[in-house]
Amino acid sequence: MDSYHSLIIARVLHVVGVVLWIGGVAFVTTVLIPALRQLPSKQQRMDLFESLEGRFGTQAKLVTLITGLSGFYMLDAMDAWNRYQQEGFWWIHMMTLIWAIFTLVLFVLEPLVLHRWFHQQAQLNSQRSFLLLHRMHYVLLFISLVAVAGAIAGVRGWTFI
Ligand code: HEM
Repeated sequence: MDSYHSLIIARVLHVVGVVLWIGGVAFVTTVLIPALRQLPSKQQRMDLFESLEGRFGTQAKLVTLITGLSGFYMLDAMDAWNRYQQEGFWWIHMMTLIWAIFTLVLFVLEPLVLHRWFHQQAQLNSQRSFLLLHRMHYVLLFISLVAVAGAIAGVRGWTFI
């Protein structure tokens, strides 16, 4: 396959990965966590959260890998690493930063510390822990959508600066 077509395939994989990934984050933030917060029993809330989190976690890890690999592949194939030195490409910095946050949380912090920490906090004060979880997801969703909007406009030459 020539490099022209492999670049198109990388972009297709990249954007399909982004849709699944950020769409999942949007669902968790605007539907799932609010529904969990309304459950009356704190035990029920935690049990349901942990069983759903397990399923979504695997999916999120897979799309994080696909999006990251295809993103770095495109930068390499276009010989565009120097975009990291240009402020007009702030959206490339932002995409990479979001990817790094998710990679760190999903592959390192969650299995090592966050899972146990959240479980403990939720036993102590369930309402407050789920409120914090909700806020963190809103922040991640917001910056992800800014990066998506910035990328789509940026690729077409409008960088907002
Ligand atoms: C390691 C992380 C990432 C790298 C290195 C990366 C790199 C890239 C590159 C090189 C492009 C093509 C730009 C062009 O054609 O000039 C692109 C497109 C895109 N990226 Fe990323 N990306 C990463 C993560 C993300 C994340 C986390 C998101 C979503 C929040 C995202 C959203 C997009 C979108 C929507 C496009 C398509 C823009 C368009 O063609 O209209 N990327 N990315």
